[in-house]
Amino acid sequence: AAASTLGAAAAQSGRYFGTAIAAGRLNDSNYTTIAAREFNMVTAENEMKPDATEPQRGQFNFGSGDQIYNWATQRGMKVRGHTLAWHSQQPGWMQSLSGSSLRQAMIDHINGVMAHYKGKLAAWDVVNEAFNEDGSRRQSNLQATGNDWIEVAFRTARAADPSVKLCYNDYNIENATYGKTQGVLNMVKDFKSRGVPIDCVGLQTHFTGGSSLPGNFQTTLQNFASAGVDVALTEVDVTNASTTQYQGLTQACMNVSRCLGITVWGVRDSDSWRSSESPLLFDGSGNKKAAYTSVLNALN
Ligand code: XIL
Repeated sequence: AAASTLGAAAAQSGRYFGTAIAAGRLNDSNYTTIAAREFNMVTAENEMKPDATEPQRGQFNFGSGDQIYNWATQRGMKVRGHTLAWHSQQPGWMQSLSGSSLRQAMIDHINGVMAHYKGKLAAWDVVNEAFNEDGSRRQSNLQATGNDWIEVAFRTARAADPSVKLCYNDYNIENATYGKTQGVLNMVKDFKSRGVPIDCVGLQTHFTGGSSLPGNFQTTLQNFASAGVDVALTEVDVTNASTTQYQGLTQACMNVSRCLGITVWGVRDSDSWRSSESPLLFDGSGNKKAAYTSVLNALN
């Protein structure tokens, strides 16, 4: 029988369907009603990022991250951790560090945050957005600490919580022939060949006018899977919620056994970081859009 919610429909094939949740919206009953009904995986939109969790060096704050974690798990939903090491949304003290002191601060940050959530999360986005469009490494204060910073982050994460899946997460890695996609795939293959722990790749799947659903998306997912990692679509939104793109991205995940699930980057269009593009599955009043039906049908 066809399931009537996104989460239940995804669960029929052992997958999940998630959303980004913002702590500041948890007192909006229209928002929480939809979120609790439709989804079975949650990502904190901002509340588990470095600036939120370690506002002062060595002083951790899990208040709003825990608010989301508790809201989700009290409703039987699982939680993805997002994110531990990123060039963006660093606290001010971290932005001003470099070299060995930044390297140590990154290690301490991973250890501090992962200790708090040890054994509780489905996955962590250990490293976020570390590549340029041409497949080279993005220049950042983290990259300047040495090219091995990504593998140090993953080794630190594995030791901090051996039970959680460790993911690399990025955008514009959906097209199999694109330089950035190949750069990330080559990193995964290198890590696998050298025993650097990595379990999954998150494809953010932000589709805009400039980067829409590529015809080879399923091939991309399969290429990562063949390299030995699970994949997930972690931050989906599509300009004007194109039904064909939403259907196609959902079908691609369904067709790849190692595609664990799909997360859309918000509940209603009005909740989106790209709200002017109306890119989500519910309109600002909480009504299901045509794209909702195309996703639900593909999951069913
Ligand atoms: C975005 C949030 O949605 C915004 O609220 C915030 O102002 C900036 O970050 N890639 C990511 C996400 O990995 O963390 C970003 O989230 C969107 C792009």
